[in-house]
Amino acid sequence: MQTTLLLTWATGYIGSHAVVAFEQAGYKTVIIDNLSNSSKDSLDGIEHILWYKPDFFEGDIRDKDFLRSVFSRYTFDGVIHFAGLKAVGESCTLPLHYHDNNIGGSIALFQVMEEYSVRKIVFSSSATVYRADNISPLTEDMPLGTTNPYGTTKLVIEELLEDLARLGTWSVIPLRYFNPIWAHPSGHIGELPNGIPNNLLPYVLDVAIGKRKKVSVYGDDYPTHDGTGVRDYIDVCDLVDAHLAAYKHLALWYTPINIWTGKGSSVLDMISLVEKVTGVTVPYEITTRRPWDLATCFASATRARELLGWQATRTLETSLENGWKFLQNQLKGYSEPV
Ligand code: NAD
Ligand code: UD1
Repeated sequence: MQTTLLLTWATGYIGSHAVVAFEQAGYKTVIIDNLSNSSKDSLDGIEHILWYKPDFFEGDIRDKDFLRSVFSRYTFDGVIHFAGLKAVGESCTLPLHYHDNNIGGSIALFQVMEEYSVRKIVFSSSATVYRADNISPLTEDMPLGTTNPYGTTKLVIEELLEDLARLGTWSVIPLRYFNPIWAHPSGHIGELPNGIPNNLLPYVLDVAIGKRKKVSVYGDDYPTHDGTGVRDYIDVCDLVDAHLAAYKHLALWYTPINIWTGKGSSVLDMISLVEKVTGVTVPYEITTRRPWDLATCFASATRARELLGWQATRTLETSLENGWKFLQNQLKGYSEPV
């Protein structure tokens, strides 16, 4: 019989790619999302790839009656939980909202899972759970601690899931990642942030398509090979493959796993790679450091390789080519650069 999974918050960026990957691997997926940071358009993108739309229910995971109405229609084997409002800066100004949405939503979800005896879960955690003074490459046994409310919500949810796993009835894998980039090779789904992008790559590509004038490079005096910040950028399709591998390896345990490529690239490396792939010059200026930034952040993917048999396979060039294709598909009616 086909395995049915609930994907929470899955019309968003990573979730929509996960829906495609799980469906193509033979799972039936059921999607819920309150559309607070996404739109039903991503369902059209998913339909272009799969030729059908998976079952979708609009609602909030803090609403247990809504969750029960979905759980009572299906026999779920497990849940892939993309639980989160995710903007670090916003979380510092709206900590109550972040705690309510991310932790409150997760507690409601876990309670309803328990009610329906669904106790298998892969959770989208983040590298923000690692203490800022850890030296990269980060490994899963390094000390945890956060510097912002977004990170705190991820850490609290991890701890709650570890407590559930200690009951001996839950199977839990939190996946810790940080810098997913770009799009499905079809060009039908990808990252399309609302408003001004916070993250580097969406901003660089906005400049490349002429929507914005130049990239601000936040500091060139870090102790890195060219002075700019170094990160481990992972293709979103590699990332969702890791969710698939994690789901297959769920057992009665709790094991956090880093999902990274293990290779770091600087801001200037990424700008010149975008120029190479797109053939477009990307103007930039060096500005001051962003307050919460680290010089270097990347992680070891050894545990993912050993436990899940997973490792990233896509190159940065491939990711950027897919992102460029997706953006070309989206291009319509932009006004003058701002
Ligand atoms: P996204 O914002 O594109 O997707 C999240 C989705 O959750 C959105 O569609 C939003 O409408 C929905 N949502 C928010 N609150 C909800 C609620 N209470 N009920 C129902 N739906 C709700 O984000 P994403 O980049 O796809 O991230 C997915 C997950 O991965 C998040 O948990 C995020 O914290 C985590 N993560 C993301 C990154 C990243 O760089 N994108 C890095 C590490 C971890
Ligand atoms: C940020 C979040 C992290 C989140 C991740 C992906 C923080 C501290 N961390 O990580 O929680 O999971 O995004 O959503 O906010 N940069 C520029 N100019 C820009 C934008 C970024 O130079 O306009 C630089 C940054 O200084 C950094 C690198 O590019 O060195 C990557 O930045 P970004 O894409 O924002 O990701 P992170 O800061 O790694």
